[in-house]
Amino acid sequence: MPASPLFAALARRRSVPARLLTIPAPSGAEREALLAFALRVPDHGRLQPWRLITIEGAALTTLAARLAERLAAREPDVNPARLDKERARYAHAALVVAVVARIDAGHARIPAQEQLLSAGCVAYSLVLGAEALGYGAQWLTGWAAYDPAVAALLGLGAGESLIGLVHIGSVGEEPTPIPRAQPAAHISAWTA
Ligand SMILES: Cc1cc2nc3c(=O)[nH]c(=O)nc-3n(C[C@H](O)[C@H](O)[C@H](O)COP(=O)(O)O)c2cc1C
Repeated sequence: MPASPLFAALARRRSVPARLLTIPAPSGAEREALLAFALRVPDHGRLQPWRLITIEGAALTTLAARLAERLAAREPDVNPARLDKERARYAHAALVVAVVARIDAGHARIPAQEQLLSAGCVAYSLVLGAEALGYGAQWLTGWAAYDPAVAALLGLGAGESLIGLVHIGSVGEEPTPIPRAQPAAHISAWTA
């Protein structure tokens, strides 16, 4: 391992499943710094094709109730247990940050894919930054991230898409380690 504490910390990074996160979430100046950190991402053309929406407290309870209603409308035969699970989705959440990609699909120079990738970097930076501050985080999507009614509920406009709901909180319980990518399976050298 290289002798860099920053590298060593990054090399050990892991998400913390949302159900293992608890209060308190970062607040005040610390939260401000975390959100600013998350926006410091590679961004071809400096389009800043992203924005963040914080959701916490009573707003999370309301969101969960609305998601359950929406699920019932989408799937009239949905199992009641699934609806209950939906209603309880944010029961223990401390802070959820919706990461919104704002894609200009007709941009003259920067392809939509690059704009989306920059937004993905924001979501990942949020996870990394939270961990660096001693919190845990997990980037989640699920059906709600792809549902137009949920997008409207969160106030998304034309060209905007919800690329993740990043849960951030204190680590209530350490997650079980998961298998990691074996570099040899994913890395090759191109030789001319
Ligand atoms: C775009 C995206 C969406 C994801 N959505 C979910 C999800 O809805 N549910 C889930 O369990 N994990 C989801 N994940 C995976 C978690 O964020 C996380 O990577 C996983 O818990 C493994 O943890 P690790 O980051 O330590 O590898 C998603 C990841 C990405 C990149």
